[in-house]
Amino acid sequence: MVSPTEREWRGLRRLELTPTPTPLDRAERLSDHVGAEIWIKRDDVGAIGVAGNKIRKLEFLLAAALAEGADTLIIVGARQSNAARATAASAALLGLECHLVVDGDGVGAAEGNLLLDQLFGAVIHPSGVQDWAALERRARDLEEELARDGRHPFRMPVGCSSPMGAVGFACAYEELLQQLDEEQVVAESIYHASTSGGTHAGLVLGRKMMQRGPRIHGIDVGDLYEDAAETIASLAREAGALIAVDHEFSVEAVEIESGHMGRCYGSITEQATAAIALTARLEGVVADPVYSGKALGALLEDATRGRIKGPVVFWHTGGTPACFAMPYQEALVAAAGAAESGPGEQPG
Ligand SMILES: Cc1ncc(COP(=O)(O)O)c(C=O)c1O
Repeated sequence: MVSPTEREWRGLRRLELTPTPTPLDRAERLSDHVGAEIWIKRDDVGAIGVAGNKIRKLEFLLAAALAEGADTLIIVGARQSNAARATAASAALLGLECHLVVDGDGVGAAEGNLLLDQLFGAVIHPSGVQDWAALERRARDLEEELARDGRHPFRMPVGCSSPMGAVGFACAYEELLQQLDEEQVVAESIYHASTSGGTHAGLVLGRKMMQRGPRIHGIDVGDLYEDAAETIASLAREAGALIAVDHEFSVEAVEIESGHMGRCYGSITEQATAAIALTARLEGVVADPVYSGKALGALLEDATRGRIKGPVVFWHTGGTPACFAMPYQEALVAAAGAAESGPGEQPG
């Protein structure tokens, strides 16, 4: 790929890391199967780093980092962090050094995202700790060390979810509305996976700016915040301030549903693995077991129970590399075996 073009969106710099619009596809067979019209917004498709929602945030974050003269990126994350992998891929494209501070001891098996991180040339720092505060402290020490060595490090926010990162999804909401208009589809809602809240906040901001369009229905798959709706509302307000949009966001306006994560962040749930297997069989589209598959599971349940009729948009936020890491790989093999709907079967 050639060096990314720098563009502007609402007065902010944006690096074009992947072609947009990403596809918006009607999922015919899946819609017939569950009895509701489903469209899939394919942010799992893109030019670099196996794509995913983090690329949209990175387009704004990295434009800001380069403007500050950064030559090194630092990000903390879980071993299967998609944010870390997308940051590592973007750093490779831009010729920046990239450091990942990951939880636990040792690098361990190079599977899924962790394998890709290494291919993209990231330096991996196993932190020996599990909790976020300790990971952040380790990243701060690393930042100081690198600065002492004459580097210009830029700390990426957790999950790339700062107000600047969230702006990427306000921009994405505008993109989706244009596509829906072209298709002459009036969608009732968007289902997407939410953890650090940047995706949700950006979409909420985008809807407020456009003053129309589908509601945003976030599925909480991380249980990261004590009050997720409040965090997302204030992230949306701060993101708005960056593009001179002065809106208040009430907590009541943030729709966030829990109950689909499983026991804890990253748990395997039967609902998600079944939804992934079904959608793969009917559409040839693969969601992931930690994020997008759980939002998809929630959507398919609502459709099957008649709680939504559609049109509804499933925002595919990517994350597919985790399918190729244990224990998810094993759970997906089992789900594929259990999927009832073979390719030749009549929908219904
Ligand atoms: C694949 C995928 N989907 C959804 C999300 C949630 O996005 P956000 O952190 O903006 O809430 C993440 C976050 O890591 C992700 O990796």
